Amino acid sequence: MKHADIIEKMTLEEKCALLQGATTFGSWGSERLSIPVMEFSDGPNGLRHQLGAADHLGIAGSEPATCFPTAVTVANTWDEALGEKIGKALGEEAAAQGVGTLLGPGLCMKRSPLCGRNFEYFSEDPYLAGKMAASYVRGIQSEGVAACPKHFAANSQETRRQASNSVVDERTLRENYLTAFEIVVRESHPKSIMSSYNLINGTYANENRHLLRDILRGEWGFDGAVITDWGGSNDHVAGVEAGSTFEMPAPGMDSVRQLVAAVHSGRLSEEVLDGCVDDALELVLSTHPAVEGATGEFDKAGHHALAREAAAEGAVLLKNDDSLLPLAAGTKVALVGDFAREPRYQGAGSSAVNCTQVDDILDMVGESGLTLVGYEQGFLRHGGEDAAKRDAAVELAQHADVVIACLALDEIAESEGADRRNMRLNDNQVELLHAISQVNSNVVVLLSAGSCVETDWVADARAVLYLALGGQAGAGAALDLVCGRVNPSGKLTETWPKRLADTPTADRFPAQGMSAEYREGIYVGYRYYQMAGVEVAYPFGYGLSYTSFSYSDLKATPKGVTFTLTNDGDRAGTEVCQLYVAKPNHQVFRAAQELKGFARVELAAHESKQVSIALDDKAFRYFNVATDAWEVEGGTYELRVGASSEDIRLVGTVEVEGTNAADPYAGVDVTPYETGKVQTVDDAHFAALLGHPIPSPKVRIDRNMCFCDLNHGRSPIFWIVWLVLAAMKRAADASGKPNLNVLFIWNMPLRALAKMTNGMVSVAMVDAIVREIKWWGLAGIVPALLVKLATGEGFILVWFLWFIVPILVAFIANLIGNARTNGALTLAGK
Ligand code: BGC
Repeated sequence: MKHADIIEKMTLEEKCALLQGATTFGSWGSERLSIPVMEFSDGPNGLRHQLGAADHLGIAGSEPATCFPTAVTVANTWDEALGEKIGKALGEEAAAQGVGTLLGPGLCMKRSPLCGRNFEYFSEDPYLAGKMAASYVRGIQSEGVAACPKHFAANSQETRRQASNSVVDERTLRENYLTAFEIVVRESHPKSIMSSYNLINGTYANENRHLLRDILRGEWGFDGAVITDWGGSNDHVAGVEAGSTFEMPAPGMDSVRQLVAAVHSGRLSEEVLDGCVDDALELVLSTHPAVEGATGEFDKAGHHALAREAAAEGAVLLKNDDSLLPLAAGTKVALVGDFAREPRYQGAGSSAVNCTQVDDILDMVGESGLTLVGYEQGFLRHGGEDAAKRDAAVELAQHADVVIACLALDEIAESEGADRRNMRLNDNQVELLHAISQVNSNVVVLLSAGSCVETDWVADARAVLYLALGGQAGAGAALDLVCGRVNPSGKLTETWPKRLADTPTADRFPAQGMSAEYREGIYVGYRYYQMAGVEVAYPFGYGLSYTSFSYSDLKATPKGVTFTLTNDGDRAGTEVCQLYVAKPNHQVFRAAQELKGFARVELAAHESKQVSIALDDKAFRYFNVATDAWEVEGGTYELRVGASSEDIRLVGTVEVEGTNAADPYAGVDVTPYETGKVQTVDDAHFAALLGHPIPSPKVRIDRNMCFCDLNHGRSPIFWIVWLVLAAMKRAADASGKPNLNVLFIWNMPLRALAKMTNGMVSVAMVDAIVREIKWWGLAGIVPALLVKLATGEGFILVWFLWFIVPILVAFIANLIGNARTNGALTLAGK
């Protein structure tokens, strides 16, 4: 143990108090023991440090900070050096604002384009996500503060996010959902990691021994602190036993009492507790030097410039017919679309940054060298018909050489706390684009969205530049690209299917019931489309440039490839070269090919360079569920080098020695996984993949029942609560802006009442509520009727007392308990 000297001076209550937040974003501290308070803060694309009222949904204000492009944009750069620079800038801002642990990066896997939080995540590919996340962590931690990669693990939907059970087979879990975390842990040694809200195969991620002790700490050697997501702790004792450290945000003294009681009863050994306390102390004390002199000052202009560089590198040129782009100086442009004036540059929720400044295209077009003939809003931001706006934009379009149409998903379309309902842009934007294309054939679409959209409108544009979510400096970056000051080099890190119905999870995402069944197995993103032969709009790894590149002279060995890359054009440019591994003759089912390496190569006009891409120890492996280990199938592999997953330019073969493990699926009918046809997988095949029966998705009335399920309870009072919430949610959905509080409560389990109220509500009170929902609500009718029959009145009063008394008793017991525990802590502090 690193801090045995401190631990031996701590009382049991103090140790337990350290393992939870004392405030929404602050740890517990002690003057007597010289343990400083450490501050946590979101987030992945900029600091969201709240000085006053704090919340975990980005609702209350926060200190100004740089809003960098979100993860989807930076991932599209495939640039680890840039990721490290952004991480360093985030670390600098964290240290300047006194934040010891920065809650990011986010590296959940993009299982479906509909996940409302895809904008916060890097990719559908675990290798790429892991590499990019590792670069952020290196940068953040170089400033002395801690990074906290999140959300660990198999957390791919927002619907029911706090109580959704990810039912996933071990191989898929390891290969798709854990590999990125493995890379980040092994390569960049984060000081902390955030466990996710969901359950994995029936056990909360934060209580999952297999995940936290066997894999994270055991196999990968993680020796930092595991932090629950905010309100993500179910049973803190079970969490600590499983290897979790901090329960967040501020559960109050009830959690302290539970840990103390568990030690006294022998359920939790003090040795295990001390191990967790040691991890907590290490996080707090090791980050303290970086934050103690915090001045609040950081290089605002420098970070804004870096945000602009990242936004430009991360934009992906999807279409550029007849080289319409770049536009020459002096081109007469009409600017249309609401998003030119009010950009969509970040997502809603805990990652939302209060920017130091926000640029917009309308303001910046003047300094771009283009000649603006006018601007029209063109459409209502949140959808709906407005013929006057559309007609004005069409009229304007007739007076310009080129129309720049700024289209986007609006704020309600993608947000933390809710999944997307479809993959479409609002109809009014598509209609406007079509109308404009009838009067001006030179239309450039600048598209802002945190995830892919259906592009059946693409014929109406001659050029499409996908800006993703470009951060506060995204507007300048877009104009840099449009005018050719920067040559586009971003490539998609998420496949763009033609339509939602083509996605592997079309029929089951997001799961509405308790279980999110990962029936598609390993076939997510390009692994699915290629295997199942489904044509896509834009493949994984795709992106155009203003120049073109050719590939030649491949040399392949099991250690990697070297080849020559040539810029065939008259402009300097950067190419993202990708290396995929395939095994044409395989015994154990696998994807057609998998990304295992990449390189970003800058070339001057007509320059050639020799490029090397090394393969690491993960290149040929698969997870074998029979041996419970990573194995390698021996034989011939193809190493495919390409400009995208579908534009393979060079193929080499190598012989690889295998580990000779038997096929774990021998004798098991896993046909859909052999063919890749996984859109519909029946129960028998899914159970065969899981290796056990499929758990029941039935909603249970217990502490983990969600508010959205209260209509399944047996308490009229809670039916009313449900009706009110449902109405509030409908109103929020219709408003165009996500109501994060309502969304959070809708998907929140009852136990979160005890975990997020700073000790006001105890678990015993939640249990009293659960009893009420189970049967007391209705059972209360009996005594109420008896009193009514006996006295002729009092029905409502008795029924209400029947409901409230047990909760009140638990409330008073909690108050007394809190006073006692506080007393013990105060006494120890003296
Ligand atoms: C989010 C986390 C975030 C935390 C604190 C949660 O709702 O899921 O990503 O770090 O809040 O704001």
